[in-house]
Amino acid sequence: MNKMHPDLAYHHNDPGSIETRVRALLDQMTLAEKIGQMCQVNASGGSAPDYLGGRLRDGTIGSVLNIVDVDEVNELQRIAVEESRMGIPLLVGRDVIHGFQTVLPIPLGQAATWNPELVREGARVAAQEAARAGINWTFAPMIDIARDPRWGRIAESLGECPMLGSALASAMVEGFQGNDPTDAGSIAACAKHFAGYGAAESGRDYATTNIPETELRNVYLPPFKAAVDAGVMTLMTSFSDLNGVPATGNEFLLRQVLRDEWRFDGFVVSDWDSIRQLQVHGLTEDDRASALEAATAGVDMEMAGDTFINHLEGLVNEGRITMHAIDTAVGNILRVKFRLGLFERPFTDPDELLPSANGWALETARLTAQQSIVLLQNENSVLPLQEHSLKSVAVIGPLADAPYQQLGTWIFDGDVDLSITPLQAIQSHAAGSTEIRYERAMETSRSRVSEAFDNAVRIAADADVAVLFLGEESILSGEAHSRADISLPGDQAELVRRVHATGTPVVAVILAGRPLTLTNIVDHVDALLFAWHPGSMGGPAIADILFGVDSPSGKLPATFPRVVGQVPIYYSHKNTGKPPSRETVVHIDDIDTHAEQTSFGMSAFHLDTCFTPLFPFGHGLSYAQFEYRDIHTSRQEIHPGETLTVSAVLANTSDIAADEVVQLYVRDLVANITRPVRELKGFRRVRLEPGETTTVEFELHTDDLRFFGRDMRPVVEPGEFHAWIGGSSDTNLRTQFRIVARQ
Ligand code: BGC
Repeated sequence: MNKMHPDLAYHHNDPGSIETRVRALLDQMTLAEKIGQMCQVNASGGSAPDYLGGRLRDGTIGSVLNIVDVDEVNELQRIAVEESRMGIPLLVGRDVIHGFQTVLPIPLGQAATWNPELVREGARVAAQEAARAGINWTFAPMIDIARDPRWGRIAESLGECPMLGSALASAMVEGFQGNDPTDAGSIAACAKHFAGYGAAESGRDYATTNIPETELRNVYLPPFKAAVDAGVMTLMTSFSDLNGVPATGNEFLLRQVLRDEWRFDGFVVSDWDSIRQLQVHGLTEDDRASALEAATAGVDMEMAGDTFINHLEGLVNEGRITMHAIDTAVGNILRVKFRLGLFERPFTDPDELLPSANGWALETARLTAQQSIVLLQNENSVLPLQEHSLKSVAVIGPLADAPYQQLGTWIFDGDVDLSITPLQAIQSHAAGSTEIRYERAMETSRSRVSEAFDNAVRIAADADVAVLFLGEESILSGEAHSRADISLPGDQAELVRRVHATGTPVVAVILAGRPLTLTNIVDHVDALLFAWHPGSMGGPAIADILFGVDSPSGKLPATFPRVVGQVPIYYSHKNTGKPPSRETVVHIDDIDTHAEQTSFGMSAFHLDTCFTPLFPFGHGLSYAQFEYRDIHTSRQEIHPGETLTVSAVLANTSDIAADEVVQLYVRDLVANITRPVRELKGFRRVRLEPGETTTVEFELHTDDLRFFGRDMRPVVEPGEFHAWIGGSSDTNLRTQFRIVARQ
């Protein structure tokens, strides 16, 4: 029985009464019980209730992670609620990153949908399935801006753009937490990793980050601010060092920005053992100093470490940490437990929730995968495949029939039996009419054994089209899985070349956890589809796109470099004082050995590759033909505080109905700090029937043009702006307007 005093009954959605309840609990708790709330214990392995029972009864655990057996979770909750003095329920955390049993595309793939509503729905599916296992807190979304595809965790990210990332971060938070966080199918979200993790030097996981404060505020923090504004209940610190102060001990981030500026009133959890690691970073001498540093900086809960449990009490007794600081941290944690309604409903009854992998879940996974697929290239309109005229299709490659690999990174609870592979889906799609021949050709994407290539070439030569499933397995991306060379591993490029040499049209479908450098295959394939790690329903989604059941509509959420040496390469870069242009660029092969160095245009480019990427941010083709024209602003001049409309006409000039993601970019030409050459300021997915024309309008308020300037304050400056609308970040359809100061 819950020990809460009936007089203290409250309404979960009434902040006033939650604060009263928090205060009332704090007044009754011992210091040991308070510190206990600040400790999260790994409960995976062994028999969790036996192993944790003593501490649960003592009230010295606030949260557990990595336990997913609903009966065990209920038993842990029972001990916490019924057998501890204060009866405080547990937060039960888990990495539910892109689905639970039903696996959605990796977050980077979800970002390629540019569809916040669908992304919200996916998080809702994940929350419901996780909640059935007794989980009430996910460590998602990961909203680190990621501009380095070498970094394995780019797979978990929402890509390179602060605006797209912010929109999708809010959507995920709303999906996990639901309209009503006390709902049985809602779980607390955790925006991570605060902050800057994605800027890890050379894309090596956990590496140092150095980010100037203007860049931090203009690029890396906006998705976190959006998550806070969307009501995210928790944040997780980053493992990384930020400008010399590791994020887990970073008072500037955790107090000044998060609490003082943003007024966040949920709680902050460390990353796994990251408090102890402050010593490894060289910030502290020992665990005691690490606990002091983290608690002082503003970490409320320690994940999977023991510095808080071992040292906080002593530090309080010595006066190094005040009781007020402890009460604030514990209050933040209790507030979240109240908001989740855990005191009323600590136990989970799976029967109250929809069964996992139900029709809604699978359909959401399929639709998300479908909208995430990006058509990078389609020479001679080889796609969509015309079933009626196809006698045979050769399906080739290590990822055509790899049910586990298509799920991607972080799928602890994913049910591999739900996976439908591309090969299976193509076989059932084409059943009867078209012959499907399959050759895996390579044991893994990394194989250097080409014995089976001959058979691949043979079946390709005999087929009307060869569809190659290439890329990288799930193990090649994710946490601590960075790569220095991001081209197709193993002998895949050679396989492509050999199949191409048959003369049969080649379609390459790439499954991967990151943007890859595809320069060495683009000329040997007719069509190129990028499907990320598409999840359980990846196969049917890919088959739908291949056979034209729907048109591809995904757009790149991250730039695809030509060669890894271009990294970091992203659309919203600065202009520099010497921007390259097509006229001035030369190629290394054309250089006259005796020419003077100054004759090459003196601009910001590499001699041995073009200064542009292979595929820009926002790029993604369609089976339909879209034409943009007549960009227009409702006003030429606006004052600060006002809104204008930027619009363009979009026509579907084809006979295929399709979605298009329309994008608005803006450049602030002159400012007190240099500004990016383009920034995404709006996007919308629209569906156009054959021959349909529409006008797409974006409202732009001057607040949307604010940035943090030299004095670290948000400002919108009068002056000239350029605006573009189009289907990619390299659109040329431009207009301009001015912001004019009020007299
Ligand atoms: C990761 C976090 C994750 C945590 C718990 C850490 O290694 O950085 O993102 O939530 O483990 O599994």
